[in-house]
Amino acid sequence: MSLLLDRTEFGDSANTGKTLTREEAKALFYDWVKNERLQLHMNQVAQLMKCWALEKEGLNEADAWRWEMAGLLHDADWDQWPDQHCKKIIEELENRNVDPEIIRAIASHGPLHFGVEPVTKMDKMLYAFDELSGLIHAYSLMRPEGYTGMELKGVKKRLKEKSFAANVSREDIADACNRAGIELDELIQFIILRQPQAGQ
Ligand SMILES: [Fe+2]
Ligand SMILES: [Fe+2]
Repeated sequence: MSLLLDRTEFGDSANTGKTLTREEAKALFYDWVKNERLQLHMNQVAQLMKCWALEKEGLNEADAWRWEMAGLLHDADWDQWPDQHCKKIIEELENRNVDPEIIRAIASHGPLHFGVEPVTKMDKMLYAFDELSGLIHAYSLMRPEGYTGMELKGVKKRLKEKSFAANVSREDIADACNRAGIELDELIQFIILRQPQAGQ
């Protein structure tokens, strides 16, 4: 099954700056995604994107929402239409006249799967957070204290253990850090501290 998108242009530049409202985005989220684990993953990535935009990129609330929205909806079609993953949510957001940067970020969240290179910082951070946040969450579930007291070295040990969260691509994580120009350690620390805020 190929998920290649076979396109490089997304959305309409006339829609730059246009987003769904938080209510609209949440309505789409709950309408399309019924699986609670997937909901949690999407909320976690949304939270990380928002925090990164505010803290590291110095963006205002409105621009940070664009980052958060990309995270919140990046896997929206995975639950019900896995064979159309990415394609379906992209088309939905194009029909709703959403900012092309948000659509592009979603389209490039798995370059090996969708054939779209992450270019902007938003693209790269979504790609970087996607897999690594999943591995760190899996680690939190096996710790009695969850995220509390979690250390960098513990996460790195799990990363080296190929059998742990085996579906998480270590290659993608390394590739994403390279592309974003961020040290793996920094990214792990950021996730350990911000991810619990996304709730359960
Ligand atoms: Fe995905
Ligand atoms: Fe994801």
